[in-house]
Amino acid sequence: MPHLFSPLKIKNIEFKNRIVVSPMCEYSSEDGFASDWHLVHLGSRAIGGAALVMTEAIAVSPEGRISYGDLGIYKDEHIDKLKQITDFIHQHGAAAGTQLAHAGRKASHELPGHYQIGTYGRQRKAESQHQVAKRRKSFGCAVAQYHQQRNRA
Ligand SMILES: Cc1cc2nc3c(=O)[nH]c(=O)nc-3n(C[C@H](O)[C@H](O)[C@H](O)COP(=O)(O)O)c2cc1C
Repeated sequence: MPHLFSPLKIKNIEFKNRIVVSPMCEYSSEDGFASDWHLVHLGSRAIGGAALVMTEAIAVSPEGRISYGDLGIYKDEHIDKLKQITDFIHQHGAAAGTQLAHAGRKASHELPGHYQIGTYGRQRKAESQHQVAKRRKSFGCAVAQYHQQRNRA
């Protein structure tokens, strides 16, 4: 793979190589808050040399979380810890990305491994993309992926 470690520029973002840590739910949040767990988990990937480190799916409303252990960005109080994580990733030469999400009718599940107690059953409306973009900027991420489950009839 000759290009794996070569830099890449997409729009105004310079990636130092082609290695991306994909979004991975960690089921480690309470009420959507990031913690030192997320700081270490994501920060260590930046130290390890990835060019882009994505957070897990981060819900724009509490009902839109896949499980109640997911990260959220539905309260202003969520921002401080996310900003600390973003800053740490940047300090170690990686770009920080996030996956702004609403899990639609697949939302509000139990944690994996727990008995499934059902879902809310109906998709709640996610915030508009404009509001979502404001959320991304609030903690300094350069990259955002919009992740929304769609209902099928
Ligand atoms: C534990 C775990 C959690 C994941 N959480 C998310 C997630 O939050 N959002 C998402 O789009 N994909 C999620 N994925 C999928 C991964 O981002 C990735 O697409 C998948 O592991 C396939 O990657 P690969 O093609 O490099 O094997 C998750 C995967 C794993 C293993």
